Amino acid sequence: MVKLTINDEVVSLDADPNMPLLYAIRDIAQLTGTKFGCGLGLCGACTVHLDGQPIRSCVTTLAAAQGKTITTIEGLENDGELHPVQAAWIDHKVPQCGYCQSGQMMSAAALIAKNPSPSDEQIETAMQGNICRCGTYPRIRKAIKQAAKMSVASTPVSAQSATTSSIITELGNKREVSS
Ligand code: FES
Ligand code: FES
Repeated sequence: MVKLTINDEVVSLDADPNMPLLYAIRDIAQLTGTKFGCGLGLCGACTVHLDGQPIRSCVTTLAAAQGKTITTIEGLENDGELHPVQAAWIDHKVPQCGYCQSGQMMSAAALIAKNPSPSDEQIETAMQGNICRCGTYPRIRKAIKQAAKMSVASTPVSAQSATTSSIITELGNKREVSS
């Protein structure tokens, strides 16, 4: 039994401790927003936070998360209020196919938590392990800059506006298709 916290919920998983954390998140915890891409730690699609640090869950064992706190894309919002990264992603219509985007957003959220005013170079360095086959990199960079500003200003972001809700639905449908 491996005990850990996922998105503020303490869970005990009866699973092989050597299984990739990604499998536990997707197949046991049923949180399918985190994606399987390469399975080799090379693409970033599986990025989640472990005690606040971005990690590749495909090459991290479940055992390594014992007693730790995991945050997935589903846990990024706070009581219905979007994380600034999520709001900026919507504003800039970042996703194309969407497959890489939860990993992109988790890396971006970790970056601005550590560095509230990242330069282009710092964004490039922090995001270089997250691959997007659709080439959404320019929009990702703009969205990170906006999210960083929003974070600093602590601007409340409501998930309830009609525009935002419709885009969230659209993104959710894409996730559904690609999960
Ligand atoms: S699926 Fe984990 S880095 Fe590609
Ligand atoms: S949006 Fe398609 S792979 Fe990134």
